[in-house]
Amino acid sequence: MNLSLNLLPPRLRPLARAGVPLAPLTTFRIGGAAALLVEPASLRDVSDLLAACRASGVPLFVLGGGSNLLVSDEGVPGVVVSLARLKKIQVIGSHVIAQAGANLATLVTRCSQAGVAGPQALAGIPGTVGGALAMNAGGRHGEIADWVERVIWVNPRGELESLYREEIAFGYRSSTLREGVVVEAWLHGGVGEPAELAARARTILQEKLAAQPYSEFSAGCAFQNPKGMSAGRLIDLAGCKGLGVGGAQVSTMHGNFIVNTGSATASQVLELMRMVQERVQAAHGVRLEPEVRIWPACAPAA
Ligand code: FAD
Ligand code: EPU
Repeated sequence: MNLSLNLLPPRLRPLARAGVPLAPLTTFRIGGAAALLVEPASLRDVSDLLAACRASGVPLFVLGGGSNLLVSDEGVPGVVVSLARLKKIQVIGSHVIAQAGANLATLVTRCSQAGVAGPQALAGIPGTVGGALAMNAGGRHGEIADWVERVIWVNPRGELESLYREEIAFGYRSSTLREGVVVEAWLHGGVGEPAELAARARTILQEKLAAQPYSEFSAGCAFQNPKGMSAGRLIDLAGCKGLGVGGAQVSTMHGNFIVNTGSATASQVLELMRMVQERVQAAHGVRLEPEVRIWPACAPAA
């Protein structure tokens, strides 16, 4: 799909590029190009961009670190907004103010250095602060919602708005923030000793490195855990480890990771996800639901 830069207000045009390959901007290294990729330089740019997309009826896709995304081989027929330029982090006492494009790992390090306790639980999770809020990223040690005080976002009506924690619905790997564009987060932690906090973050990172295939291209866990169960364990018990379609393979290290061994396409990953769903359904009678976000939206079975 070709989109003209003219759909954007003149001020935003220098921040936009057409036909940008998205694969290098994702941890899966898979997928086609964005019709237009825009990198706003201010919060105001984000709301102006949303307004322009609404006015012209062009769909908008929000890109963080691309660590939970499967982009279709045909690419994305719309505007992709990347928050990569908005990455300031400020720590004031036990409060942390982070722009959405800030790296989550940098946030964890800054918290440890400043003696802010809590977000160390997120050590080892790739991506950005905005993506972590949209997905409510976390694991057995906690999830980002645990430290949210408030969030500034551009809401679905295109308005810059501040939301208190209680105005946001966070669930398991989901939040209502996915309906708009998060631009800034205010987090609040406890008080800790910097060396101890850094050691805790290192331990949690080591735990993840020992269990998950970090040296390979993936988008993290492909499926959500069904209530009270581990999808990885179900996939493993169903004999799916090592199963492959083209360059896509179920990790031999962790059953819930699908890895791109080098040349995988999005359609191969989707076909493999469908096979895994079928085998787990047959073996355990459980339907696995994707955790990875698929652009443009499409079910693995489609
Ligand atoms: P993206 O992948 O860029 O986007 C994900 C979704 O969030 C998309 O729907 C996107 O539109 C939306 N989004 C992104 N930014 C914004 C924004 N500013 N405003 C509104 N919506 C936005 N996840 C866990 O929860 N726990 C883990 O332990 C974990 N381990 C992982 C390990 C590996 C090796 C990998 C590759 C991934 C892992 N993940 C894990 C998945 C992923 O890192 C998280 O979901 C992460 O929070 C996604 O952030 P991102 O910035 O990369 O978002
Ligand atoms: N297991 C197996 N075989 C496997 C994988 C796991 O038997 O192939 C077993 C493990 O031995 C363990 C249990 O299943 O007894 C749970 O495994 P693990 O501790 O790896 O946790 P998980 O439930 O598979 C969840 C999150 C991860 C997060 C970890 C650690 C989901 C879908 N996954 O994994 O998040 O890192 O806990 O906190 O919620 C992600 O969301 O992308 C992600 C990686």
